[in-house]
Amino acid sequence: MLVYEKNELVSEIESLTIKHGDTRDALIPILQEMQAKYHGISDFAQQEIARRLSIHPVEVYSVISFYSFLSAKTLGRNVVRLCKTISCDLAGKNDIVNAIERELGIKFGETTKDKRITLEYTNCLGMCDQGPAMMVNERVYGKLTPEKAVAIINEIK
Ligand code: FES
Repeated sequence: MLVYEKNELVSEIESLTIKHGDTRDALIPILQEMQAKYHGISDFAQQEIARRLSIHPVEVYSVISFYSFLSAKTLGRNVVRLCKTISCDLAGKNDIVNAIERELGIKFGETTKDKRITLEYTNCLGMCDQGPAMMVNERVYGKLTPEKAVAIINEIK
């Protein structure tokens, strides 16, 4: 990571602690804003947040690992999360996987070269009666067919 990138992160985190406070309670709001701005929370950012909040970096990392909307790696500007839980699996999740992977030329777990789209699996989205279901950024889609999934992907491509 370049020095100016580190400096930018340090000042961003400083301003977030001014906004949200510098105690443990501020951890999730700070992580959410960092995720929204940088599409991921790097090792360096995690350490700086821990230092500012006087907590252990492991605690920061475990919160990031726990919540699916937070990520330690840099994600694309759009994140597609396809439900991998049993109802969606039985409803034809694999057909959706194949269609989306073919359309984008990447696998789930990967990000397109232009950093526009990341494909991820997620656990149940609460739409089990409308599977297969997926979430694109904040929006949830159900009753997917391969054609419908590809059309949704093409809107963000
Ligand atoms: S199992 Fe997919 S939304 Fe619940």
